Amino acid sequence: MKPRENEKARPVTDFLMEDHRRLETLLQSAVAHADQVDQGAYTQFRAGLLRHIGMEEKILLPAAKRLRGGEPLPIASKLRLDHGALGTLLIPTPTAAVIASIRGILKEHNILEEGTGGLYETCDELAGSEAAQLLAKLQAAPEVAVLPHSDTPTVMNTLHRVLERAGYTFHGDEI
Ligand SMILES: [Fe+2]
Ligand SMILES: [Fe+2]
Repeated sequence: MKPRENEKARPVTDFLMEDHRRLETLLQSAVAHADQVDQGAYTQFRAGLLRHIGMEEKILLPAAKRLRGGEPLPIASKLRLDHGALGTLLIPTPTAAVIASIRGILKEHNILEEGTGGLYETCDELAGSEAAQLLAKLQAAPEVAVLPHSDTPTVMNTLHRVLERAGYTFHGDEI
């Protein structure tokens, strides 16, 4: 989606949509070779997605709540469940099932954020004259430390639970 002419600036939308595209490109290059995940690209993807989720959870959603007089956005709880599922999917080794599950969630999740009347547009509208300030806070969000992968039974059980709570199925379970 490109900004239409004669439209108000929408700094939050532009910045976070560009980050979505950057993350998609990183994930794409991580899995460019069918037989092996490119760990360097996947590490950048993990760090980038965790930072992106942090921007939304710690800066954007709280700002929207404040601008709505303390009332959270109706979509906030669904977005948080998705973020929990995505964050948990970043923990295990990126098997084909893990990657397919991440892609499946991001496809639906990004529409909720980027679409007309979605999170980003709503936040630009709510922020109004404060939008540039909000953008500056997003840009200053800290990097997130990426831990080594873990494939313990606890991690895999948690993974199934958080995906189910968010309304998704782990792709490895469908076969
Ligand atoms: Fe998100
Ligand atoms: Fe996002």
